[in-house]
Amino acid sequence: MAATFTGVGVGIGLSCSTSKILQSKTSPSRSSRYYVKMTVSVEEEKKKSFTLQKSEEIFNAAKELMPGGVNSPVRAFKSVGGQPIVMDSVKGSHMWDVDGNEYIDYVGSWGPAIIGHADDEVLAALAETMKKGTSFGAPCPLENILAEMVIKAVPSIEMVRFVNSGTEACMGVLRLARAFTGKEKIIKFEGCYHGHADPFLVKAGSGVATLGLPDSPGVPQGATYETLTAPYNDIEAIENLFETNKGGIAALILEPVVGNSGFIPPKSDFLHALSRITKENNALLIFDEVMTGFRLSYGGAQEYFGITPDLTTLGKIIGGGLPVGAYGGRREIMEMVAPAGPMYQAGTLSGNPLAMTAGIHTLKRLQKPGSYEYLDKITNQLVQGILDAGKKAGHAMCGGYIAGMFGFFFTEGPVHNFSDAKKSDAAKFARFYRGMLEEGVYFAPSQFEAGFTSLAHTAEDIEQTISAADRVFQRI
Ligand SMILES: Cc1ncc(COP(=O)(O)O)c(C=O)c1O
Repeated sequence: MAATFTGVGVGIGLSCSTSKILQSKTSPSRSSRYYVKMTVSVEEEKKKSFTLQKSEEIFNAAKELMPGGVNSPVRAFKSVGGQPIVMDSVKGSHMWDVDGNEYIDYVGSWGPAIIGHADDEVLAALAETMKKGTSFGAPCPLENILAEMVIKAVPSIEMVRFVNSGTEACMGVLRLARAFTGKEKIIKFEGCYHGHADPFLVKAGSGVATLGLPDSPGVPQGATYETLTAPYNDIEAIENLFETNKGGIAALILEPVVGNSGFIPPKSDFLHALSRITKENNALLIFDEVMTGFRLSYGGAQEYFGITPDLTTLGKIIGGGLPVGAYGGRREIMEMVAPAGPMYQAGTLSGNPLAMTAGIHTLKRLQKPGSYEYLDKITNQLVQGILDAGKKAGHAMCGGYIAGMFGFFFTEGPVHNFSDAKKSDAAKFARFYRGMLEEGVYFAPSQFEAGFTSLAHTAEDIEQTISAADRVFQRI
């Protein structure tokens, strides 16, 4: 089987230059070969002691208590086989399950853990904040601090509203876009995920894609009637939608780099074209940066690609591991939000001091010089190493990364949209996934999810992961 790696170059961004679509080399680096030789007996030992007995017991009990045994479908192992692993603790780049197995983690709690899990400074700050209480239901100074940090960092945001999840942020921003424009139709892309609110559950990515659900029962037809969809990276399809729905489209929402169909970067002119077309049609451009915000660069995808949308949603990293979301944009739009304006949106725990504290200290760490260069360096090594190992074993693969976000597919590629992503060999991914778990490496249990690195991942973590992949590729 020939392995070819193809991809698109992407426009140069502020700090990290281009999107990295990696070209596989034919031989592994000397250092990884050396590493395999030195560690093979340790790895064999690790595999022998890999049992999931307690995890299975706890998960079997969980299945009787909660639907599917989980509180979010993306945690299910349906597409990779076996059962989800029940975790006991996390620290830095590692996780430990209830049977005592240790994993190098590339899920990072699905994105928030960009400075590493359970960071000492964040935990200390949380302990201090907690002494004053966990929720006031009234304004607190910490909200101002995080709001100022977000406004300073994210080019499109002049005012921000904190909520409790990415889903809430996307729900709020959609209502706001409709309120501001007085129009109702929206465009989203196939395979992009914007949370689980009714209007977005049309050709959605993430767990909806992983579980092969076309749309969800329970979503009334009326809720998705105004949702139009197009393939990602397809400008012509967008032009056609604006043409056939002239004057009716309130907004276009997208993941500026897709993470919910696996990692899919935009083609070089794609985001610029969307910005132009939305402007020409008096529609708002919304970047859903719940995943990419503070991950591709400190100012998110919009800073990285140099494109300023009208509105932005955030989540994950700005809560530093506690439940937070946010939406923001130009002042004239944001002033429509209640109580400044008439568009209603509220939240009992929104802006609570604990979540604000975790966000503030996570962002402070990211501000330190070299953070994104470090993410870029280790993620490059990781993805290149995995692709090289796959190629050496004769697998067709492609993949890429930007800073701390990455992905790879078991297909020659190129992957420009969800249909391309679906060509990936899911059965092979499942075998790879199980093999990597036994080797102590934890990826997202789906081919349709991006992976994440953190400032806590070490060169040794990356080397160990590549060596593990090298062994697993040979036996799948
Ligand atoms: C791009 C994007 N938008 C929205 C969401 C929803 O966020 P949450 O899971 O916090 O509701 C996610 C979740 O992964 C996401 O990746």
